[in-house]
Amino acid sequence: MSDALTTGANREKDDPVLEVEGLRKRFGGLVATDDASFAVERGEITALIGPNGAGKSTIFNLVSGFYEPDAGTVRVDGTDVTGKQPHEIADEGLVRTFQTPRKLEGMTVREAMLVGAGDQPGESFLKLFTDAAGVAAAERANVEAAHEMLERFEIGHLATQPATDLSGGQMKLVELARAMLAEPELLLLDEPVAGVNPTLANTLSDHIARLNDDGVTVCLIEHDMEFVMNLADPVIVLDRGSVLVEGSPDAVRADDRVIDAYLGGESA
Ligand SMILES: Nc1ncnc2c1ncn2[C@@H]1O[C@H](COP(=O)(O)OP(=O)(O)O)[C@@H](O)[C@H]1O
Ligand SMILES: [Mg+2]
Repeated sequence: MSDALTTGANREKDDPVLEVEGLRKRFGGLVATDDASFAVERGEITALIGPNGAGKSTIFNLVSGFYEPDAGTVRVDGTDVTGKQPHEIADEGLVRTFQTPRKLEGMTVREAMLVGAGDQPGESFLKLFTDAAGVAAAERANVEAAHEMLERFEIGHLATQPATDLSGGQMKLVELARAMLAEPELLLLDEPVAGVNPTLANTLSDHIARLNDDGVTVCLIEHDMEFVMNLADPVIVLDRGSVLVEGSPDAVRADDRVIDAYLGGESA
């Protein structure tokens, strides 16, 4: 952690948090990501939009280490993280949520929050043997941090509920709160309001804006255009695995190439 802080302090303020260059990923005969290059600037909320199958989620999987690229580089805060494991990339400050939340059967919301929590010394048998008190204290601290985070998202009352009892929208809130436990510098959100009712979508939008005000850089994928246009600037449009257009919400909305891409995507 202190390493990351030192690196951050030495870094130019206007260096991008995320730089993607010439990224490529093929699945059999299908090129899902085709020479994609873009940057996410510090402090901004950048949206990644594009027709279904354009390769948006694949890019998130590539930059967060869940897929290995066939070519290209990913840099987080200037550090080359290409081919690294998700937890190593999370240590660099990049944390993501999933388009489809993971299965959480048999878990309470609080337990779901702690899956993948950074500091889990209980996993080291030797440490458990030699420092049981330290392990218990760390676990208590994790539970407390999870509670505080749920409170920050105004869902503290859900902590002891079975995770499977939540609505889709509440689940999205929990995912967001869970991601924030890792104290990310850059938060990647894959369709944070998909299938969420309009009221809860507004709540999520407010939370994301607040996190951004607090200094978290955000990159999000979303189909809900009103949500994107209200929250994000700039907007990057992906089509067939490559960046088609990048610009302000208004510029992107008025761009014929973008309209064509969406129409083409629908008939494909
Ligand atoms: N793990 C995978 N195996 C095979 N094909 C995949 C895999 N992940 C994505 N694809 C394919 O890559 C293309 C882009 O998918 P995706 O990145 O999920 O698009 P988007 O998120 O923009 O809708 C699609 O044709 C999809 O079927
Ligand atoms: Mg997707």
